[in-house]
Amino acid sequence: MPVRAGIQGAAPLDAEAPVPTLQSLSLRYDGSLSLLDQRLLPEEERWIDASAPEACVAAIQGLAVRGAPLIGVSAALCLAATAERGASRAALIHAAARLRAARPTAVNLMGAVDRVLAAIHRADDAGLAEAVISEATALFTEDVALCAAMAAHGAALIQDGEGLLTHCNTGGLATAGVGTALGVIRLAHEQGRRIHVFVDETRPLLQGGRLTTWELRRLGVPYTLISDSMAALILRDGRAQRVLVGADRIARNGDFANKVGTYGLAVLARHHGLPFYCVAPTTTLDPACPDGAAIPIELRSPEELRGARGQRWAPADAPTENPAFDVTPASLVTAWVLETGVVWEGTGVVKAR
Ligand code: MRU
Repeated sequence: MPVRAGIQGAAPLDAEAPVPTLQSLSLRYDGSLSLLDQRLLPEEERWIDASAPEACVAAIQGLAVRGAPLIGVSAALCLAATAERGASRAALIHAAARLRAARPTAVNLMGAVDRVLAAIHRADDAGLAEAVISEATALFTEDVALCAAMAAHGAALIQDGEGLLTHCNTGGLATAGVGTALGVIRLAHEQGRRIHVFVDETRPLLQGGRLTTWELRRLGVPYTLISDSMAALILRDGRAQRVLVGADRIARNGDFANKVGTYGLAVLARHHGLPFYCVAPTTTLDPACPDGAAIPIELRSPEELRGARGQRWAPADAPTENPAFDVTPASLVTAWVLETGVVWEGTGVVKAR
């Protein structure tokens, strides 16, 4: 009875392993949902079962799974797994509400869950499970296609021999496909452009240092890991010609939220006269949000700043401020690279939907 499409995302499948129904670099769905625990990368590749709503909520909140598009797809496929187990309409609606609220900033999460909820409300009792599974599967396959289209538009902007600077992780670990900003970089490399990527380590949770380096190493893309505080030097010295980042939510006026540190990079790029691109699918656009000031910004635990992995380096009671994201004003964006095409500054990003 489940809809089994046999679709592969970005990752090559292990020939020895049984072929799952849906597979991306860090997500598998075969009636159950498995996620590659990104907290353990790059040291360990351990998959966790996120089929139960509470397990999936915990995985999203703990950043075992992360990246705006991928948390939306994961939440949807968790609902599919829940439907496969025969959950009632009321139980599915309850689970959807919990998943939808797991993180506040990435609008992809709300958008994906709302699509599944609409399918739940449309379906009759006999077709309920199939409707949920089919909508969640569509969200996965659509994200793969969105990534491919963004990569094609963005790679055309990159010249042979360039240095590129990126922040956080926006690749196959953040989407069901090749990624957003990192998907552009990957395709430029695959098309034969000789590029070099400067990877911000992305404090405090090191999505750049742990995850983007892991992806680029697998892909054979030349890169250098830098501390976040070194980005200014790289841009001043002409070692990177472009800055590419992803987004968690783009407001109607083009302001966007992305991993904290993005705003600083945009200021630096403007100061040095370098192009700064926001690469995101239209599932990241929020037309209901008028500008960046209206984007809800997630505040995370002080412990993420006071130390890491069981080691504390700040006083246990050190006052902290730890927003997961910051907002970059549209005025600092050279262009938004969407799956629909490249929208240049001042031409109306939401109209491009
Ligand atoms: O807190 P995270 O790791 O989920 O933050 C992720 C980002 O900020 C990404 O840049 C964003 O989701 C776009 S990734 C396709």
